Amino acid sequence: MAVLELSKINKIYPNGVQAVHDFNLKINDREFIVLVGPSGCGKSTTLRMIAGLEEITAGDFLIDGVRVNDKAPKERDVAMVFQSYALYPHMTVYDNLGYGLKLRGMEPEEIEEKVKEVADILELTPYLHRKPKSLSGGQRQRVALGRAIVREAKVFLLDEPLSNLDAKLRVQMRTELIKIHEKIAEKFNTSTIYVTHDQIEAMTMGDKIVVMRDGYIQQVASPKEIYNEPVNMFVAGFMGTPPMNFAKGIVKSDGYFYAGDTKLEVPLAKVNVLKEKGYIDQEVVFGIRPEDIHNDPVVCETYPSTSMEIRVDLVELLGSETNIYFAINNQNAVASIPTKAVKRGDFLKVAFDMNQCHFFDPKTELVIK
Ligand SMILES: Nc1ncnc2c1ncn2[C@@H]1O[C@H](COP(=O)(O)OP(=O)(O)O)[C@@H](O)[C@H]1O
Ligand SMILES: [Mg+2]
Repeated sequence: MAVLELSKINKIYPNGVQAVHDFNLKINDREFIVLVGPSGCGKSTTLRMIAGLEEITAGDFLIDGVRVNDKAPKERDVAMVFQSYALYPHMTVYDNLGYGLKLRGMEPEEIEEKVKEVADILELTPYLHRKPKSLSGGQRQRVALGRAIVREAKVFLLDEPLSNLDAKLRVQMRTELIKIHEKIAEKFNTSTIYVTHDQIEAMTMGDKIVVMRDGYIQQVASPKEIYNEPVNMFVAGFMGTPPMNFAKGIVKSDGYFYAGDTKLEVPLAKVNVLKEKGYIDQEVVFGIRPEDIHNDPVVCETYPSTSMEIRVDLVELLGSETNIYFAINNQNAVASIPTKAVKRGDFLKVAFDMNQCHFFDPKTELVIK
């Protein structure tokens, strides 16, 4: 069992750069947590502080209620799983897995038992006598994980482990890593903290996602909540491809959103929130995801007050889906629609699913709710 609690963790590097600000997070048994954010937002720094490879400038890091700020990496129940190239190339898989135990003076019989158990879980039994160079990338990754398991680490830390792989293998490895995590968590109650800058990886892998920006946590929530209820424009724009559309405009007391020629009826519940918070007749940022703009003629006819005609600026054919680029009052927007014959310059009727839209404060960029 291991519950990790990071409380008001700060990191200031000797050169004065503050990489992490007041980071608060609780990590429970068996969780798969993803830290995601653009390059330089403090993900690796946070992970390295958890591992004990980087000093914590201020704040408390507790494992099962015990403060471990000053404990050496080895004395923490955490293990950084380095990328596959950190395996010993001259040793077999068996020796790579058992080496740490040997160093600790464990008896060969005991080592054998442990290594075989872990190899079985990770489906590495047929490869125990191979050297790393004759393994696939996925198999090497499993050996690296296996080394952390035999050490009896309770929390695995992975820093962009898939970033060196090509796109196809990366997708395959995502599923594989999740499967392994579930298997190991089931047996050893372990949790995983996974760092990536890739929002798709975060959305598809995490039980819980921590979105970071400039050293600050923006939101901690499930992938679904992050996607459907982003707390601010940064989270809304970072998660999802193509990203959420934003357009400045005004919601008037008649319950419509106005931006130039655009006029869309806003659901009453949303109008009431805007009213309550004092945003009627004030500039707001309207946000809607590309997949919430539809082109179905029946939908457009049924909901004329949330439909409008757009001029197609650019067409991006992806396969079964097509991205249609257009403008809302000179602000770029995109709709993802089922593929059909559309070309640049065409006029197209689209319906906005206004129940899915968001409004943000243009200054604070926080969602209005
Ligand atoms: N050893 C260091 N000394 C000084 N600044 C650092 C050091 N390592 C990272 N930084 C800075 O801290 C910030 C966060 O870096 P990092 O944690 O590596 O971000 P990420 O992993 O999200 O890309 C960046 O501004 C980076 O330049
Ligand atoms: Mg990094």
